[in-house]
Amino acid sequence: MKQIALDGPAGAGKSTIAKRIAEKLQFVYIDTGAMYRTLALACLKQGVDTADEERVSMAAEAADLDIRYIDGSQHMFLEGEDVSGQIRTEEVSKAASDTSKFQRVRDRLVYLQQQLAEKYNVVMDGRDIGTVVLPHADLKIFMTASVEVRAMRRYKEYLEKGQACDLEAIKEDIMQRDYNDTHRANSPLRQAQDAVLLDTSDMSIDEVADAIIRLYEERN
Ligand code: DC
Repeated sequence: MKQIALDGPAGAGKSTIAKRIAEKLQFVYIDTGAMYRTLALACLKQGVDTADEERVSMAAEAADLDIRYIDGSQHMFLEGEDVSGQIRTEEVSKAASDTSKFQRVRDRLVYLQQQLAEKYNVVMDGRDIGTVVLPHADLKIFMTASVEVRAMRRYKEYLEKGQACDLEAIKEDIMQRDYNDTHRANSPLRQAQDAVLLDTSDMSIDEVADAIIRLYEERN
């Protein structure tokens, strides 16, 4: 099976690009952030304190989690309910940043992710895909963009969805999440040694997608 690993900080454009590449290459796009978000939502729904490692780990291990691909897009199910919309809120983003640092939460999801990669050709995006989940991926990309550019992209996404938002608050939140993701003890966000670094601050979606597909084709 073929594997493309796409890592980088929040808002670097990973999911947009990953979807585009998956479509072009006819691979399955696997959004691992959505999995961490779904387990965080399980904690919020049960009133579990997201700082309590033991209770979060127990809730994460017990959660009835399912991933389905409907018309080419990934849907997350929790206790039989499609929660794909519910996981895209600021509250869940913050909770996922807290709960994804716990090893037992990661162990459950990494196992799932590796199983998916055994069954399908995948483009998988996240924070630890090139370093932990798919260490032998055919191509590893580490995507970054400046904090300003990433905040503006998120801001526009929220506006398009009609959600109220504040650019400065989004920027603060991105910086906080960058700090959390890069400073945690378990699988921190970092570039794998053999990953190609792409700064997308001044690149269009098409340029980034084309660059990655070219790299993939050169190697295969
Ligand atoms: O990519 P995202 O914003 O949907 O991710 C949500 C949170 O999950 C984010 O705080 C980082 C964490 N995450 C992770 O630790 N490892 C991954 N492979 C993907 C996401």
